Amino acid sequence: MIRGGVIRVGVLGAAGRMGSLVCETIADAEGVELVAAVDPTASLGATTASGVEISPDPGVLSLAGSDVAVDFTHPDVAFENVIACLDAGIHTVVGTSGFTHERLEELSVRVGSGPPNVAVVPNFAIGAVLMMWMAEKAAPWFDRAEVIELHHDGKADAPSGTAISTAERLAAARDSGGWPERGDSTELLPGARGAAAGPIRVHAVRLPGIVASQEVLFGTTGQTLTIRHDTFDRSAFMPGVLAAVKAVPDLSGLTVGLEAILGL
Ligand SMILES: NC(=O)c1ccc[n+]([C@@H]2O[C@H](COP(=O)([O-])OP(=O)(O)OC[C@H]3O[C@@H](n4cnc5c(N)ncnc54)[C@H](O)[C@@H]3O)[C@@H](O)[C@H]2O)c1
Repeated sequence: MIRGGVIRVGVLGAAGRMGSLVCETIADAEGVELVAAVDPTASLGATTASGVEISPDPGVLSLAGSDVAVDFTHPDVAFENVIACLDAGIHTVVGTSGFTHERLEELSVRVGSGPPNVAVVPNFAIGAVLMMWMAEKAAPWFDRAEVIELHHDGKADAPSGTAISTAERLAAARDSGGWPERGDSTELLPGARGAAAGPIRVHAVRLPGIVASQEVLFGTTGQTLTIRHDTFDRSAFMPGVLAAVKAVPDLSGLTVGLEAILGL
């Protein structure tokens, strides 16, 4: 339970692309208050847009007074940040990528049933979460499905974590009998049929001008269904971040993904 009803929030990675936007979002939102901002690259005296000083000291003491910490830092440091917050009794919402299945298992043991609680959310875009959820619902009704993800050409890896996760969920969504075995085209150029993520083919497009999009295509006799989500800028992630910050004090232990927070 949060004293006074207002959740006091500290942001780790406050000078970064996501962290700075999270600081603005928290400062402008009802029911939450930005009380701390941390980023080792911040110069002395630097502040967030709302005037909160950004501490260059990455130690958890910089988060003093926070009920909830939000981490948008780097995969190399995020895990240690969460552990430090747990030890300090601060709930944590993590957006930083790189939380493997092994790391999540380790974290689950450390968090136990909480409090403090932790929410690790690989994708805060509510539309993307709904796209995956709808795709799972559609999966039993079609013979084949393929995933096309489209990102800017600066993205380091391919396919995206969301595409891999979608393919895993589609594979698991047909528990009785799996996906029907079908012959496939001979590839005249290697990779023409995309990457095989189990029974689901995944295609990655990289072009300047795109932010992040994904299509899930289904086919069966005489009909197809396409579910598509587009992200146009980072503001797409903010409603999801805010929902997680408000929910995390009342969750129990470790929560992965936005689904439970949205009630899906
Ligand atoms: N979950 C999602 O929906 C989602 C959406 C977008 C980005 N991301 C992920 O969020 C992370 C951050 O992305 P970004 O584009 O903002 O990166 P960025 O490089 O712009 O910002 C990261 C910031 O973290 C700071 N930092 C590094 N170590 C720190 C520490 N120990 N304590 C505090 N701050 C520290 C860096 O100085 C930097 O300013 C990435 O892993 C990215 O993949 C997740």
